[in-house]
Parts: sequence; structure tokens; C-alpha cells
Amino acid sequence: MEFTFPVTYTETPKTRPTDESKLGFGRSFSDHMFLMNYTEGKGWHDGRIVPYAPLELDPSCMVLHYAQEVFEGMKAYRWEDGSIHLFRPYENAKRMQNSNERLCMPAVPEDMFVEAIKELVAVDAEWVPHNPGTSLYIRPFIFATDAHLGVHASATYLFCIICSPSGSYYPNGMSPVDIYVESRDVRAVRGGTGYTKCGGNYAASLRAGQEAEKKGYVQVLWLDGVERKYVEEVGAMNVMFKVGGKVITPMLSGSILPGVTRKSCIDLIRSWGIEVEERLITAEELFEAAENGTLEEAWACGTAAVISPIDSRGW
Ligand code: PLP
Ligand code: COI
Repeated sequence: MEFTFPVTYTETPKTRPTDESKLGFGRSFSDHMFLMNYTEGKGWHDGRIVPYAPLELDPSCMVLHYAQEVFEGMKAYRWEDGSIHLFRPYENAKRMQNSNERLCMPAVPEDMFVEAIKELVAVDAEWVPHNPGTSLYIRPFIFATDAHLGVHASATYLFCIICSPSGSYYPNGMSPVDIYVESRDVRAVRGGTGYTKCGGNYAASLRAGQEAEKKGYVQVLWLDGVERKYVEEVGAMNVMFKVGGKVITPMLSGSILPGVTRKSCIDLIRSWGIEVEERLITAEELFEAAENGTLEEAWACGTAAVISPIDSRGW
């Protein structure tokens, strides 16, 4: 199916960040955004590209009270020849549909999702940075807009896409980060929303993140919510370990986000002839491997943080 969305160009273009080595993550936003409304009985309608601007919401807007919201995170990269490429956008389109289903929200058709992103990135092409290690971070999100306080699924939604020229997610770039094994709070449980990208998962993760930071760690390593012994994720990233020549990573159990970067790492590593096991991994097993010298590498992976090596402190 073909889609073309009308564009209203900004009359007041912003000044783009000039020093691409200082972009950081998610701090500045491009000139335009994509908006599309959903109304029960009518479906998705009025897709459009408009100047980036604050949104006006009714104070009783359902998302503000019951967090019926899902989002995605993906990147557009500029190649050396100047051309711009999206990284596996259909993976994000499919994952957003899975998130929509769990949160009782209408799905955006995959082709419509990808086309909206392509057209927005084309309008804001100048915002895709050039330096190695930089990209245009793309944040599609959908939220409930009914002005109503009853606890039920909304009948209206807004789909929005914003873009942010970004560099490194961590202030120290690609340096290895220290992680804290969290044993009090849990991020998600099976049957919950852990496998979706819904805002509520991230709100629930903030306290552990703050506590870890106070103790001098950069990220939290989440354990499973039932037995508190199996490793699940690191902050907003999947996690992998190389132990005794093999790569191991937590299996997708329902409480873990199926990362696009995780999938890409598994495919790549297998293509290099290295075995990858997706299974339950206890923190204890990793401590033992660190002690007996078989733990060779540990890293987290995700769109924003890319590949983030884990430091040896604590192992
Ligand atoms: N796990 C969580 C909780 C995340 O928020 C993310 C980031 O999107 C990931 C894993 C990695 O997923 P992806 O590689 O698709 O960015
Ligand atoms: C991503 O890696 O795209 C994320 O969404 C992580 C985070 C900034 C929430």
C-alpha cells in the first residue's frame, strides 16, 4: 500500500547542534514531527508531518492517569556517501504491534509505520548527523487520548514520531560501565508487560536506577521477578556473556524485551561460527565463571546504547 502524508514546513527552523561530538542522547529535537489520529470506528486517519511543537492535552487525558502508552526506539544512520539508512525498521513496526496488542491499543500497519518514518526522516534529512558514532534517534509513540477517568481502553489515540540527533547514550562514550545487580525491585514479571515497550515499565525501573547511581553504578542488572536469581536485562538493554568460548543470553521468557540489537547480535555471532545459547542464566553462574576465569566478555546491547561493555567491578 502507498502512503503520502501532507507536510507543513516550519517557518522558524531551529539551529542545529554544531558540535557533533557533544550531541549526547535525546537532548535536541529536529524541526518536524509526525502525527496521526485514531478514532474508534474510523481507524487511523489524518497522518501528517508538522512543525515540532508542544502537544495540547486535556488534563483528564487517559494516558496521564493509566499509562496506556507504547513507544519504539530506532535509528537512521548517515553513510560515508551521505545516504541515509534505517536499521531494520520492520522489526520495530512488528514489536510495536505486539506492544499495542498487550496494551489494548490499535496497531499501526507495518508499511504505514515505516513509510511515516521514511517521510519524516526525508523532511528532516539535514538533522541526521555525520560523525562516526552518531545517528538520528527516532522515537515513535502512541498514547490514549480519551478525556475520561474510567479504567478501560481509550477509543482515541495519537501516534507521534519525533527525532533527535544523538551521539553516545552514556556520558563516557563506549567505556565499560559498572552495573549493579538489583535484588529488591523487579522490572517485569511473566504475564506482565515486560516484553512490550510501554512507558510504565520504565517508570517502575527508575527507583532501582537511582539507587544504583547513588552507589556509583551506571546501570541496573535486573533479575527475574519470581525467583530473583535469573539474569534478565541491563537497564534498557539486553545482555550477553561470553563464557568458555560460547555466548549466552537470557531467553525471551515474556518479561524481557525482544531487542532488535539482541537479534542482530545473535545472527552476527552465529554467522562468525560462535555458538549462542538462549537460556536461563543465574547471576550465581556468572559470578562463578568470573571467579574460575571462564567469563571472557560481558556486554549489554540496545538501540540507544548500541554495544555497551560491562566493567569487571563486582564480578
Ligand atoms: N530491553 C529494554 C528494556 C529496552 O528498553 C531496550 C531498548 O529498546 C532493549 C532491551 C533493547 O532493544 P533494541 O535493541 O530493540 O533497542
Ligand atoms: C532504545 O534503546 O531505543 C531505548 O528505547 C532505550 C531507552 C532510551 C528507553
